[in-house]
Amino acid sequence: MARIIAITNQKGGVGKTTTCVNLAASLAATHRKVLLIDFDPQGNATMGSGVDKHTLERSSYHLLLEEIPVEQLIVDAEAAGYHLLPGNSDLTAAEVQLMQVDSREMRLQQRIAAVRDRYDYILIDCPPSLNMLTLNALTAADAVFIPIQCEYYALEGLSALIETVEQIREAVNPKLEIEGLLRTMFDARNNLANEVSDQLLEHFGNTVYRTIIPRNVRLAEAPSFGAPIIKYDRTSRGAIAYLALAGELIRREHEREQLAAAGDAQAGVGAQGG
Ligand SMILES: Nc1ncnc2c1ncn2[C@@H]1O[C@H](COP(=O)(O)OP(=O)(O)OP(=O)(O)O)[C@@H](O)[C@H]1O
Ligand SMILES: [Mg+2]
Repeated sequence: MARIIAITNQKGGVGKTTTCVNLAASLAATHRKVLLIDFDPQGNATMGSGVDKHTLERSSYHLLLEEIPVEQLIVDAEAAGYHLLPGNSDLTAAEVQLMQVDSREMRLQQRIAAVRDRYDYILIDCPPSLNMLTLNALTAADAVFIPIQCEYYALEGLSALIETVEQIREAVNPKLEIEGLLRTMFDARNNLANEVSDQLLEHFGNTVYRTIIPRNVRLAEAPSFGAPIIKYDRTSRGAIAYLALAGELIRREHEREQLAAAGDAQAGVGAQGG
């Protein structure tokens, strides 16, 4: 059953979409079955996956507001290596129309349940705001992944986001966890970037991913070719970083499973002894 990861930060331009597209492609390159859901009216993840957002007949708008079977909304982003539930500016209307719907924050969760066992990962690209679309993503998700650009205002807003995650956990989605914080567009020669990175490590410790995404012009170019970086320039620093990111995500998951199994075994021994 797919692990659902929402890629979120209400701050704009921090590398959410770049991370979503390239993590999806890198996971797919390791033979995982991946579905990317574009939940941003900007439709950047759709374009970056090689699908034209202007010519869509259906999008994640229809997922939220119409009872069309999910299978009919998913397209094969063949060149990118994964499946896509595309998004475009129709989603702006969805945000408004959802307000009139019962259990409006549960719509995504309810609608993707039917295809969840077909994938290993479902990644959701969120818009730069804590709106109803983002709430739907957080309600459906097992985990939140937070890209952060290490600059002066990076930490501002992070506490609001973490508070929102806690509220959603308490109200509707008790399993929601923070998968990790990811340092993006990192320039190691920049003193401020290093200072902010140190602060992140100090405050959030192991929640900060070890993999760092460097500033790399090839990553910025790839979307204009409608391709993830590993298809556009496999040897670039950006490609290597996102492949490493997928590796770290998988490794952390194994570690958690092993810990849980060890905990169960321990509990079993305890129960036998008692
Ligand atoms: N590591 C990187 N190196 C260089 N450029 C990058 C990198 N990551 C992202 N960019 C570029 O920075 C811009 C913002 O990135 P991106 O669109 O991924 O951010 P976002 O958080 O999804 O933005 P929004 O909040 O508008 O959805 C884009 O032009 C992208 O190509
Ligand atoms: Mg984006």
